[in-house]
Amino acid sequence: MSRTATALAHANIAFSKYWGKRPYPGNYPAVPSLSLTLDAMTTRTTVTFDGALAADRLTLGGTVEAGRPLERVTALLDRVRAASGLRARAAVTSQNDFPTASGLASSASGFAALALAAVHASGLDWSLEQVSDLARRSSASAGRSLYGGFVELPAGPAEPTDAPLFARTLVPAADLDWRLLVVSLGDTRKDVSSSDGMVRTAAESPYYPAWLEVGPRLHDEVRSALLARDFERFGAAAEKSALAMHASAFAAGVIYWQAPTLQVLGAVRELRGRGVAVFATMDAGPHVKVLVRPVDAGPAAAHLRALPGVGRVFEAKGAEGAQLIPPSVGAET
Ligand code: PMV
Repeated sequence: MSRTATALAHANIAFSKYWGKRPYPGNYPAVPSLSLTLDAMTTRTTVTFDGALAADRLTLGGTVEAGRPLERVTALLDRVRAASGLRARAAVTSQNDFPTASGLASSASGFAALALAAVHASGLDWSLEQVSDLARRSSASAGRSLYGGFVELPAGPAEPTDAPLFARTLVPAADLDWRLLVVSLGDTRKDVSSSDGMVRTAAESPYYPAWLEVGPRLHDEVRSALLARDFERFGAAAEKSALAMHASAFAAGVIYWQAPTLQVLGAVRELRGRGVAVFATMDAGPHVKVLVRPVDAGPAAAHLRALPGVGRVFEAKGAEGAQLIPPSVGAET
């Protein structure tokens, strides 16, 4: 007997960044974060628990994976097995419609889709909060991708805990049309994962304490500008959050930027100098994401596409949260 479910989840990009974990187990973020779930980047994952399997199996974009990626998937499945009483191993098949592990947030959509599919395939009747907490334990940004629109994930408590910590929508996608131009600077896999980058920053950067102080303040500014629908204040605070996060990482030798990253940042400033309201944000990879109002998206994209070193530029809007794809929901085959 096997039990199977398929889920879709979108990537999200943070405007106030999560960077750094609480110094106790459970993958609790050290700072709060706020993101937009994006329609343009999707992961589709099928989980099939099958009593005949001797071990969990992971196929990512048609390639069978072993090592760290499989271990991270098994860790999530083990939590689902412990909660559901199911003992069967699972076959996990996942497909992204964008490059994996290149700072385009594949772990967010990947673990969100995996968590939702695994919970339903196991027969657990969990709330979205419980699924978000499960995904957050594997990749904190994945806790946000369960939800649509502008989403907030609080920091973990200062004192050690194992309590649930989950994200929530602050502004639904349908309520506010702010866009992101995703400026892709090549399809190379990053050398330092976000998890390792954070650990190294915390251990080696003299500016990590400064980040822990300024990150939450910038988050409050991003959040209050969002609730006031103040695009320019939101964008300015978001750009500062990204720069402060990267500055703390740089000082530990964790450098995700490449030469074209700076070219794009320069072009964003130049556009701003000409009165176009555009703001940049960068994650654990070289790519730049540019926040823009719908009216400016076309001309700004054309400008950025013409820069040297720039690959694809695509426009993304707010999307709904993760969803199960019927009719495979919890089906027994
Ligand atoms: O959730 P992780 O481990 O993939 O880390 C995400 C870190 C950043 O993308 C750089 C920031 C964020 O808040 O998404």
